[in-house]
Amino acid sequence: MTSQPVPKVTADLWTVMCTATAVRRYRAEPVPDEVLDRCLRAASWAPSGGNQQQWRFVVLRSQQIRDVLTDAAHRTWEVMKDFYQLPAVADGAADPKSRVLRAMAEHMEVGGEAPQLVLFCVQPQRGTTELQQGGSAVQNFLLAARAQGLGAAITLWQDSCDRELRELVGIPDDWKVATLLTVGWPKGGHREVRRKPLSKVAVVDRWNQPWTVQ
Ligand SMILES: Cc1cc2nc3c(=O)[nH]c(=O)nc-3n(C[C@H](O)[C@H](O)[C@H](O)COP(=O)(O)O)c2cc1C
Repeated sequence: MTSQPVPKVTADLWTVMCTATAVRRYRAEPVPDEVLDRCLRAASWAPSGGNQQQWRFVVLRSQQIRDVLTDAAHRTWEVMKDFYQLPAVADGAADPKSRVLRAMAEHMEVGGEAPQLVLFCVQPQRGTTELQQGGSAVQNFLLAARAQGLGAAITLWQDSCDRELRELVGIPDDWKVATLLTVGWPKGGHREVRRKPLSKVAVVDRWNQPWTVQ
């Protein structure tokens, strides 16, 4: 299998931000270390309280860890299917919801065999959540990935194998796993994010007073 040439970073920041959607289906080509290195570097540029940078970005390569994550993904998918009463999605259905469900099913079927896996760990600081502490590092990583043509998805399967993962990686007890990212070259293209209109989420002074440009 040939690896991809290192892509140039061509997309401008605005295009990157509005097309950095969750990508759950990947081609089999490996992600070159130089490309991953740029994503990790961007993650390390994120802000943190007091510039403490109490985070670790764990690139997961061990087959044993991949196997544990695959089992966790399969277990999580079974629970999700029941909990959300997810319908079986017809192969050909092309509406956005069916496509996302199909992609989620494939993502969790592939599980820990995604081309690249990166675990974000943080040492919680007083008064902050792990997402507040590490969230901007994750977002920096996602944007750097998108800028290079990669796709990535945040996942929470690792919750269901937390103990095993901690042991295998050697995560200290006072650190938390913030999230796991799967990363790879997208099977499809990148599309624009679908979000609520800005007037529903940005307000002026009062909770229900929509932001408008004057
Ligand atoms: C805290 C958090 C947890 C998430 N967990 C999962 C997950 O377990 N599996 C998954 O496929 N996507 C997960 N996502 C990705 C979201 O589903 C995705 O960002 C959201 O649906 C918006 O879709 P888009 O990025 O394609 O526009 C998570 C995102 C966040 C921020």
